[in-house]
Amino acid sequence: MGFYDDEETALQYIAMAEGYDGRELIEVLRNHLQDGSSVLELGMGPGVDLTMLENHYLATGSDISQYFLDRYRDSNADADLMFLDAVELETERKFDCIYSNKVLHHLANDQLALSLHRQIDCLTDGGLVFHSFWRGEGVEEHHGLKFVYQSEDSLREIFGVSFGKVEVVSYTEMESDDSLYVVARV
Ligand SMILES: C[S@@+](CC[C@H](N)C(=O)[O-])C[C@H]1O[C@@H](n2cnc3c(N)ncnc32)[C@H](O)[C@@H]1O
Repeated sequence: MGFYDDEETALQYIAMAEGYDGRELIEVLRNHLQDGSSVLELGMGPGVDLTMLENHYLATGSDISQYFLDRYRDSNADADLMFLDAVELETERKFDCIYSNKVLHHLANDQLALSLHRQIDCLTDGGLVFHSFWRGEGVEEHHGLKFVYQSEDSLREIFGVSFGKVEVVSYTEMESDDSLYVVARV
């Protein structure tokens, strides 16, 4: 059982992440994606962003942690949720947008490339992806989880293989300019 699947460590994550959410990212997303569009969130975790996405979009949550999916379901009986690995994306469904907030840094670069390739298959015509990353260099491992840091250049390179239009923007989450988000379209 992994860090996000074990109740004790998942609750530690929730406590650690208290006060941080994707509110500002979702405001940026709204400049790119019309209200009422369909959005798939990868790695929804406790579902704080999912609830905000649901306020504007037809939002579907997903995660590889059954613990987080069950926890969200307990208080949101009607939520549209899927158990989904962000690498394989084993679904036939298509969405106007695929969104994640600090999830894809857990993937090695070859897994990220595979995920992006699959994401294109899961987008409607003209759809877009919106993902955030920790900015930096190198790879670390904590609690058995991989943390792959990215730069503007590395993200442009990886996303550029699958997407024609790629915008990479830095923003602050905990420390000045410690994060990057990517908006990309085919
Ligand atoms: C740092 S948490 C972020 C959670 C949420 N997006 C937030 O901002 O609070 C990372 C989340 O990604 C999920 N995750 C990690 N690897 C994944 C994968 N391969 N496929 C789907 N979800 C994954 C974890 O289970 C966890 O919920």
